[in-house]
Amino acid sequence: MTRPLIVAIDGPAGAGKSTVSKLLARRLDFTLVDTGAIYRCVALKAGRQGLAYDDDARLEKVLDGLTVSFHVEGDVNHVFLEGEDVSEAIRTPENSLAASQVSSRPIVRARLLDLQRRLALAAKHGAILEGRDIGTVVFPDADVKVFLFANPEIRARRRFEELFQKGSEKPIGQVLAEQNRRDREDSEREVAPLKAAPDAVQLDSTELPLSEVVQRIEDLVLSRRRA
Ligand code: DC
Repeated sequence: MTRPLIVAIDGPAGAGKSTVSKLLARRLDFTLVDTGAIYRCVALKAGRQGLAYDDDARLEKVLDGLTVSFHVEGDVNHVFLEGEDVSEAIRTPENSLAASQVSSRPIVRARLLDLQRRLALAAKHGAILEGRDIGTVVFPDADVKVFLFANPEIRARRRFEELFQKGSEKPIGQVLAEQNRRDREDSEREVAPLKAAPDAVQLDSTELPLSEVVQRIEDLVLSRRRA
């Protein structure tokens, strides 16, 4: 049996990974695996049980029964944690910080490898995985690897606008400060820190419109398919 084509899209928060991955998945009819959402589900489940985010023994129990699935509907990639639609609940600022904390635990990362790989390998045509360590750890042999980044101010502005549309009044300075903290935690952790794979194509979305980013990645996928 041949493996589905694997596209790894890594990069920091706010670089446009989610938007780009969703558009690309639709255009190519590929399965989308939002790996950040999986870490967010672990954090949500642990938080609901009142666990400390560094309590490895209890986190293991959270991971034991963890089932996460996705369902794309229009523009929204719905995330289900054990059957419950948690698409909104996992994206609160509190759960974002909690996700960053659980994601620094080696046991959590190790235990989620299998789930991420299974979700991707079950894809019919191909899979797009967006995250931080897809091209370096989860699928070091991915067919296409992209590292998408943008300057911190632009990323914070995009996030600010997204939150504003949802009714948040959080000042942009605070959005930037929280983003900087997450960037630091994601890049400085010992296991699988955020970094570009040496063979990843680096795309800077500071000036490049996201539609152009999608086009460039689609071209990479199509030329890989032809090869
Ligand atoms: O992409 P996101 O913001 O939804 O990710 C949530 C957190 O999970 C983020 O702090 C980084 C972490 N993460 C990770 O460590 N590895 C991944 N492959 C994806 C996300």
